[in-house]
Parts: sequence; C-alpha cells; structure tokens
Amino acid sequence: MNSSKIAAIDLFCGIGGLTHGLERSGIEVVAGFDIDGSCKYAYEKNNSARFFEGDVRKLKGEELNALYPENSIKVLAGCAPCQPFSTGAKLRDVKPKDEKEPLQAFARLVRESLPDIVTMENVTNLRNRPVFKSFLNTLKRNGYRVWYDIVFAPNYGVPQQRRRLVLLASRLGEISLVPPTHSRFEYQTVLQYIGSLEKIEAGGRSSSDPAHKARNLSATNRNRIRMSRPNGTWKEWDKELVSSCHVRKSGHTYKSVYGRMGWDAPSPTITTEFFNYGSGRFGHPEQDRALSLREGALLQTFPPDYEFVPEGEDVFFESAGRWIGNAVPVKLAENIGASIMKSVQEAASTKPIP
Ligand SMILES: C[S@@+](CC[C@H](N)C(=O)[O-])C[C@H]1O[C@@H](n2cnc3c(N)ncnc32)[C@H](O)[C@@H]1O
Repeated sequence: MNSSKIAAIDLFCGIGGLTHGLERSGIEVVAGFDIDGSCKYAYEKNNSARFFEGDVRKLKGEELNALYPENSIKVLAGCAPCQPFSTGAKLRDVKPKDEKEPLQAFARLVRESLPDIVTMENVTNLRNRPVFKSFLNTLKRNGYRVWYDIVFAPNYGVPQQRRRLVLLASRLGEISLVPPTHSRFEYQTVLQYIGSLEKIEAGGRSSSDPAHKARNLSATNRNRIRMSRPNGTWKEWDKELVSSCHVRKSGHTYKSVYGRMGWDAPSPTITTEFFNYGSGRFGHPEQDRALSLREGALLQTFPPDYEFVPEGEDVFFESAGRWIGNAVPVKLAENIGASIMKSVQEAASTKPIP
C-alpha cells in the first residue's frame, strides 16, 4: 500500500471544482461523470481527468473498477445534485420524485465497486434526510469508517461564507477532514480575491478575459445599486426604488437581495445566480454592477486562468453561473484531498503490507 498511487473517480463532476482540488492535493483523478455534456470542455481543459457524459444512475460498479489503474488506492468522490435540477434539456426530464436517486445511485456504486475511500459533499440539510441515513448505513455495512460534518469554507481559506456537508469514509483506517487552515482572524476576503480585477461596467466585458463580464442592469437597478453601500440593505434606498416584494416581507429573509458585498470579509455563498444583482448580495463592493462570472469563479477559488469555453466562444451567464455556483470550492476540495492522503499514509504506517 505504501507505494500505491491514489486514484479517484468523480461522480457528478460538473466542470471540476472537486476534481481540480483533488488533483492539486496530489491525487490522480482518472475520470469524471456528468449528465451535462456542456461541462466537458472546462473539465478536460483544466484537469488531467477524462470526462464521460452519462447518467450516474445507469453506471455499473464494474465500469468504474475498469477505470482505476491496477493496484491503485481507489477513491470514489461525488457531489450528488441536491434538487432536480437545472436547465439542461436532459436534466429537465428528471422528475421531482427522482430527487433521492443520484445519492442512491452513489450508494449502489459504493456497494458494487467497494472503493477504498469515499468522499461526498452536499448541502447542509441533507444531513437530516433519510436518504443520507441510508447512505451512511451502506457505508457502515460495507466496513467503512465514516466521518462527516458541516464545514464552514472560510476555515479552509475560501473567501466565501459557504457551509457544506462533507463526508469522508475509508475501509483502510481512520479518516477525517484535516483541521482548519485559517482562523477567523485569517479569513480570506473579497478584496484579496477580486480586488485587482479590471474595472468593467454593468453589461460590459474585459477584452482580455471573456469570463470577466457582468450582466446589464435595468435603469431601476442601476439606481438601486448606486444607493447601496457595502453590507447595507434596501432599507437605505429612496422609497420609490423599494419593490413590493421587499415591502411585503419583514426584510429578515430578503434584506440581502439587491445588496452590495463588502471588501473586507468572505463573500456570501456563491449560488448559481450570483451574476444576477437581484438574487442575493451579489453587488460588487465598489462598481455599480453584479459580480462578473470570473469574480464568482475566483470566490469559489478556481484559479484565475480556469477556462470555461473554447477560445473565441461566448461564456453564457446561465450555464457558467450553474457550473461555477454548483462547484465544490477548489480550496475546500484540496483539503479533502489532503485528508485522504493523510489517512492513507497513516493506514500504511500502521498496517505495513507484509
Ligand atoms: C453540485 S453539481 C457538481 C459540482 C462538481 N462536483 C464541482 O465541484 O464542480 C452536480 C452535478 O450533477 C450533475 N447531474 C445531475 N444528475 C445527474 C445524473 N443523473 N448523472 C450524472 N450527473 C448528474 C449535474 O449536471 C451537475 O453538474
């Protein structure tokens, strides 16, 4: 086991946030599977792994096992979608009753392929759902030691207040997420990650980076953002700019909507709609516009040169927003990879192969 290489397969791989982080930690990712073929270009361009377009629910364990290099330590990673689903034509065919199926398919693939290590990332409220309990039972029945917790991404150097359920399981020995790399005094900020980007206007685009483009704003929204201060709320605007949805609600739930984020702290969670000024506190701290696609990707800790589409093609807001907002932040994924490496090394040192 000492000299075996660690190889991973990424189920529901998207454009590769999780894969990229695992690769950075030294794990060889051999394949990613996703039903959305539009992810292929970015996935393969920025990673060494191969992309397979397909429905994970139809995959067989033996197909996965055929992809791992001989004698490798096998990691099965995945970030099953949490709701059905987004905009791709094939995804529209998935019915609400199918909601649990991606995670059930993941559990079945664990049973069929018995990887050495399993890791999963998902939304926090999955923790209380029966489908998660059943996933845990599958792992325990098959001899895995399991660790899971709600993880706050700034603790791992991500400049974004994202909370996610992270699970690690191993048949080789103990496993858990490495301790936080950043204390709250060391949290990475919006300024550190997007402060030096070229200035662009709402509706504008950088000439050097096709992904540094910001959605246009209506005249009302231009006025709203001009009146917004970082971390402020719509309650500070002139009355005529406040919309009926703001007035109806107490403001408790919706106070961030049409807000500007601040420079000096991690950003709000980057959702699939982060390029939309009205969908959250997604206003740029200084410029009168929503975040650009590149800014969202940087706050998800994708490297600045992560490519989304072939040269000369347009990057579209809806698809890129979905790819970026759905991703596991690369730095969090890198720490998941580091945790796997550490656990494998510890297992190798306590149980040397005769
Ligand atoms: C949360 S995203 C994964 C993000 C990815 N792990 C990353 O870090 O970039 C979930 C992905 O599951 C894909 N998906 C949904 N249903 C699927 C299915 N039945 N088979 C394969 N992929 C599926 C979606 O297209 C989406 O890309």
